[in-house]
Amino acid sequence: MGVKIVETSLRDGHQSLFATRMTTEEVVSVAKELDDAGFHALEVWGGATFDSCLRFLNEDPWERLREIRKVCKKTKLQMLFRGQNILGYRHYSDDVVDMFCKKSIENGIDIIRVFDALNDIRNLKQAVLSTKKYGGHVQIALSYTTSPVHTIEYYVQLAKDIEELGADSLCIKDMAGVLLPEDAYTLIKALKKNTKLPIELHSHCTAGVCEMTYAKAIEAGCDIIDCGVSPLSNGTAQPSTQAFNSCYKGTKYDPKLNIEALNKAESLLTKIKDKYLGNGLLNAKSLSVNPNILKYQVPGGMLSNLIKQLSDQNAMDKFEDVLKEIPNVRKDMGYPPLVTPLSQMVGTQAVLNVISGQRYKMVPKEINEYLHGRYGQAPAEINEEIKRKIIGDDEVITCRPADLLSPEFESLKEKYKDLARSDEDVLSLALFEKVAVDFMTKRNNQNKAEEVEEFNLIIG
Ligand code: CO
Repeated sequence: MGVKIVETSLRDGHQSLFATRMTTEEVVSVAKELDDAGFHALEVWGGATFDSCLRFLNEDPWERLREIRKVCKKTKLQMLFRGQNILGYRHYSDDVVDMFCKKSIENGIDIIRVFDALNDIRNLKQAVLSTKKYGGHVQIALSYTTSPVHTIEYYVQLAKDIEELGADSLCIKDMAGVLLPEDAYTLIKALKKNTKLPIELHSHCTAGVCEMTYAKAIEAGCDIIDCGVSPLSNGTAQPSTQAFNSCYKGTKYDPKLNIEALNKAESLLTKIKDKYLGNGLLNAKSLSVNPNILKYQVPGGMLSNLIKQLSDQNAMDKFEDVLKEIPNVRKDMGYPPLVTPLSQMVGTQAVLNVISGQRYKMVPKEINEYLHGRYGQAPAEINEEIKRKIIGDDEVITCRPADLLSPEFESLKEKYKDLARSDEDVLSLALFEKVAVDFMTKRNNQNKAEEVEEFNLIIG
């Protein structure tokens, strides 16, 4: 049995390279070729695609999913979301998570990959239960990071807990692209020894080491790797599908993809990529190796956010100081992995600590909530002195954060009964309230105008 490949160009590929701007028409135009190529799955939905459809493209994300499903008859469709956060930026009640899993599967998803920024699996429990209830495959991704507490033993224990929770497979999600080849080998050997779960590796080429890391992972027994068809690979995205298909041809790892279908997909995606290179959404910088990722252990997206925050405040001279402050904030906060939303939170706190000239003089609301335990359990002890300085004697919750939330789906449905036309609409409103209201108001008005026009034609 060869290594299996999950094709990422239609989700992480354009999300990493040009801000998730591929339109549904572009996505669907290449779906048939990808469906014919023999992938284990196509990652096509979730992540930032949902927000981007509503916010930038004036498109219904659910409609995109249905369109892809119509074309892809053979291959499993995969999506990604952040456990109890789903695709938004707060914790949702269990009934919303349940409905989201139900509707994702009904509209065409086969494999749901979920992760939690803190690796607190209590935040994944509902997503696991619901995905299985509606007949989907649920994969839990562990957020990979490096710190004194993120040892092999830590990950092995986490993998055992993930298996016990009922996941069907396990992914190592190296969102920053900091996993090195030898570390991947050791980690995957240890995980294979201690769980029966199929193991998938997801990383990014940003630091220039990803292909080597995948190769060592495969030698250690990694079952599935995430790659993108060449125009949407490398740089800040995943390694090239064709490269791995060629490297392992005729070996025991041969992924046995259909070259003809891949070539067709490549020429279609090249045209799409050229469009985004031309209009500047794909910056040539995203395509070159960035060694700072390994130096600072900070994801590429976070680096570009910091540069923006600092230059907005005319404080680019503080860039090095902020980069040095990030590991300190991370340590104070109990070493959270730097993935959404923690990457933004830790980054903003580091900026405030440096710019105000006094550590924790200013604290964002999200960090305050985090210190109250509302994001879940930190991987290590939070600095007690700093915590007390910020939240005083406030009580810190230790239960699963969503246990404190009452059901909210029905009340949202009632609130938006004049706007939403389906449960899918209600979910869009739950996740991105303001942009979804704008989108649906425009859509409903447009439909009304079309109806009037039709009516006039008939009676005219
Ligand atoms: Co990724």
